[in-house]
Amino acid sequence: MRSLSIICLTALAAVASVAAQDTTSSTTTSSTSSVSSTSASSTESTSSTDSSSDSSSATSTSTSSAASSSSTGSSSSPVFKRFMQIWLENTDYETATTLPVYQQIAEQGILLNNTYAVTHPSEPNYIAAAAGSNLGITDDAYYNIPANVSSIYDLLEDKGLKWKVYQEDIPSVGYTDFLGHNGSYVRKHDPAIIFDSVGLNQTRAQNVVPATQLASDIAAGLVPDWVFYTPNMTNDGHDSSAEVAGNWLAGFLNTTLSNQTFLQETLVLITFDENETYAKANRVWTLLMGAIPSNLKNTTDPTFYTHYSSLSTVEQNWGLGNLGRGDANKTLANVYDFVAKQINYQNVNIANGSSVSFFNETIDGLMTNKSYNATHQSSASGSASGSGSAPAASGSSTSDASILTTSAVAVSVAGAVFASLIL
Ligand SMILES: *[C@@H]1O[C@H](CO)[C@@H](O)[C@H](O)[C@H]1NC(C)=O
Ligand SMILES: *[C@@H]1O[C@H](CO)[C@@H](O)[C@H](O)[C@H]1NC(C)=O
Ligand SMILES: *[C@@H]1O[C@H](CO)[C@@H](O)[C@H](O)[C@H]1NC(C)=O
Ligand SMILES: *[C@@H]1O[C@H](CO)[C@@H](O)[C@H](O)[C@H]1NC(C)=O
Ligand SMILES: *[C@@H]1O[C@H](CO)[C@@H](O)[C@H](O)[C@H]1NC(C)=O
Ligand SMILES: *[C@@H]1O[C@H](CO)[C@@H](O)[C@H](O)[C@H]1NC(C)=O
Ligand SMILES: *[C@@H]1O[C@H](CO)[C@@H](O)[C@H](O)[C@H]1NC(C)=O
Ligand SMILES: *[C@@H]1O[C@H](CO)[C@@H](O)[C@H](O)[C@H]1NC(C)=O
Ligand SMILES: *[C@@H]1O[C@H](CO)[C@@H](O)[C@H](O)[C@H]1NC(C)=O
Ligand SMILES: *[C@@H]1O[C@H](CO)[C@@H](O)[C@H](O)[C@H]1NC(C)=O
Ligand SMILES: *[C@@H]1O[C@H](CO)[C@@H](O)[C@H](O)[C@H]1NC(C)=O
Ligand SMILES: *[C@@H]1O[C@H](CO)[C@@H](O)[C@H](O)[C@H]1NC(C)=O
Repeated sequence: MRSLSIICLTALAAVASVAAQDTTSSTTTSSTSSVSSTSASSTESTSSTDSSSDSSSATSTSTSSAASSSSTGSSSSPVFKRFMQIWLENTDYETATTLPVYQQIAEQGILLNNTYAVTHPSEPNYIAAAAGSNLGITDDAYYNIPANVSSIYDLLEDKGLKWKVYQEDIPSVGYTDFLGHNGSYVRKHDPAIIFDSVGLNQTRAQNVVPATQLASDIAAGLVPDWVFYTPNMTNDGHDSSAEVAGNWLAGFLNTTLSNQTFLQETLVLITFDENETYAKANRVWTLLMGAIPSNLKNTTDPTFYTHYSSLSTVEQNWGLGNLGRGDANKTLANVYDFVAKQINYQNVNIANGSSVSFFNETIDGLMTNKSYNATHQSSASGSASGSGSAPAASGSSTSDASILTTSAVAVSVAGAVFASLIL
């Protein structure tokens, strides 16, 4: 009951704020900046209407704020200066470990042999790595995630940290279409542009760039603090094979990423979005390299991690707070062990992640059963440059209100039922 009334109050406040925004000409501006300005309160209100994590938001928020206050309390300096992740596609753990090219690459880093994707198929995993939840998205379709949904980009910017998403074959900076270069670039593998807080914001969209910029950014010392790199559909293995992806990766490490100065200050995570067979546990080959202790090269770390660990690790490293979703769930978001040890962060001990979940279920959430562009149209309705199909402002607030009410009720009813499925 208590949690239901909190949800309703939040919903009313949100309706009021949506209604207020509808009278301005820049809905996205106000909602984005309200998310960014105070991460503690905005995290709560965002999770309250996010049915993928609602029943647990109070617990997870308090757990994680305790955890982050202990690390920020010690005001330890960051363990790593920069974080970069590279995502490959659709390969099972065993396939990668048996291929010589991955074995060779693993000698340069720490193999994380107990790491899981969070669901199937691709797109919800990329979203989860930025938002701490798949937000109820269970397929690879065209989505606009509403600008009021918080993400890692808000947390980073709140701390004055810079980020960029390098996309191979994206036709232009900030490109928002579904496909580029005949599908060599795909929006579903782009973890930033999908968020309207990025895709519809011309300042932030400048951070979604063609991957060819990386080499010049490294040479110029201009690579930002947080980086996501998506190879094209051939290089990432999606339209080819794990072996092709491994050979591309080896070449990439030997060329673009061979700058030792850059590597020494950058913790590099290489992982796969998901494994292939839905009936098997969703374990993915994952490697940490670059700014790791040199005595840990060519070792294995058996700690249980998920894609949320890439969020919790940077959140702890920089004292960012958290999004109150999977990133704040202690079970699902262990911090990379060597980092955790240096900041005295206590991980949970789970020998085999498949005992927690097979991570092969679809997960309900904010976007469940929304038509692809429904939220886009809704968020664009207050914009002066709307498409012409935008409903009148009053009609729009009414439908916002009914969406909220429906989802708040669904959250409270479904919360307990889905608690064990929340990933
Ligand atoms: C766009 O993003 C920038 C940088 O985060 C932010 O300062 C600005 O308020 C955002 N603008 C809108 C229209 O949301
Ligand atoms: C954390 O995730 C686990 C595994 O999915 C789940 O059982 C648990 O309810 C979650 N905890 C919270 C506080 O959400
Ligand atoms: C998926 O991961 C499980 C557990 O690591 C593994 O047994 C299985 O072979 C993987 N992939 C496929 C294609 O079956
Ligand atoms: C896309 O495919 C068409 C037809 O095969 C081809 O003419 C065109 O050059 C391709 N475009 C790109 C950017 O590769
Ligand atoms: C993917 O990128 C590689 C260069 O890394 C290029 O040779 C290849 O043509 C690209 N694939 C497609 C389908 O465009
Ligand atoms: C290597 O990386 C550093 C840091 O990004 C940069 O300052 C330097 O110019 C790079 N060296 C070369 C040869 O690109
Ligand atoms: C990368 O460099 C290593 C060592 O110099 C070499 O053994 C390997 O063949 C190279 N791989 C590629 C794909 O160029
Ligand atoms: C997840 O894996 C279990 C165990 O193999 C299987 O019974 C179940 O059908 C799978 N779920 C999905 C959605 O594929
Ligand atoms: C990595 O470790 C294996 C044994 O675990 C060993 O055979 C191999 O020589 C090591 N490679 C390097 C580069 O140290
Ligand atoms: C990971 O590797 C260690 C040995 O380095 C092993 O003890 C452990 O069982 C492995 N974990 C999994 C989930 O296979
Ligand atoms: C959604 O909007 C995008 C961009 O306007 C468009 O390319 C796409 O076709 C739309 N998808 C659907 C299902 O309406
Ligand atoms: C976020 O935006 C969506 C789409 O405009 C809207 O349906 C939802 O009510 C908003 N949520 C909050 C908490 O403002």
